Amino acid sequence: MSCCYVLDLRLTPQGVPASTYAYSVLREMGPGESLRIWSPEDPTLLMAQLQNHMRHTLVWHAATDGQGYLVTLHIRGPGEALALTDTLRRDHDDMDARLVRSLSLVNGGYWREAVSEVTAFDHALRAHILIENDLLAPLAARDAEEPTTLMRREHDDILIQLDAIQEVCAAPEESCKDLDTWLGLLAASLNKHEFREETLLFDAWERAASVGHGTLLNEVRRRLSSPAP
Ligand SMILES: [Fe+2]
Ligand SMILES: [Fe+2]
Repeated sequence: MSCCYVLDLRLTPQGVPASTYAYSVLREMGPGESLRIWSPEDPTLLMAQLQNHMRHTLVWHAATDGQGYLVTLHIRGPGEALALTDTLRRDHDDMDARLVRSLSLVNGGYWREAVSEVTAFDHALRAHILIENDLLAPLAARDAEEPTTLMRREHDDILIQLDAIQEVCAAPEESCKDLDTWLGLLAASLNKHEFREETLLFDAWERAASVGHGTLLNEVRRRLSSPAP
């Protein structure tokens, strides 16, 4: 597809959400390709939805002439690394998906599979928290002191919930009826926590990461992809 193709969201078929219409075009595109979208409304929410669908591979900016917004977007090619915060967003999405899978396995009565999925989720979340506490929190401690303190406190609470879930998983199956409740509580906490991080801290982390010429990003990527112990 040409980089000059413009998808006009005013032509979205009736009853179809704009994000669905835009995604129907985007999913036919490949890495390295570009698209312009004309949106009569502020495209921030739309782009957040499209980023989710596209696993945070989009680079985009929007300009407005007062009548609407022209979004220029590009799908990162294989050789183009994700930014630090896109990498972290993708990890948030992956963990959320694991948690949903765990819950549905528990609810479906697949106990052994559920415990294995919960264990993988536990390792991923603990590794993610360590990265944020060790590598990222110090970088933004001055820039974003209050949200950093809040983030650390929420991490402590989440770790306590993870310990409780591990205990439940280690118990005999017949005494584990509460696992879905524990997972549901954690899903609610995690959801709010990720949202706060993405809105209050990601900009500061991205700025700090841009100073280090990719060193920090490489370290985050290495630790996220390390196999669980
Ligand atoms: Fe976090
Ligand atoms: Fe996070």
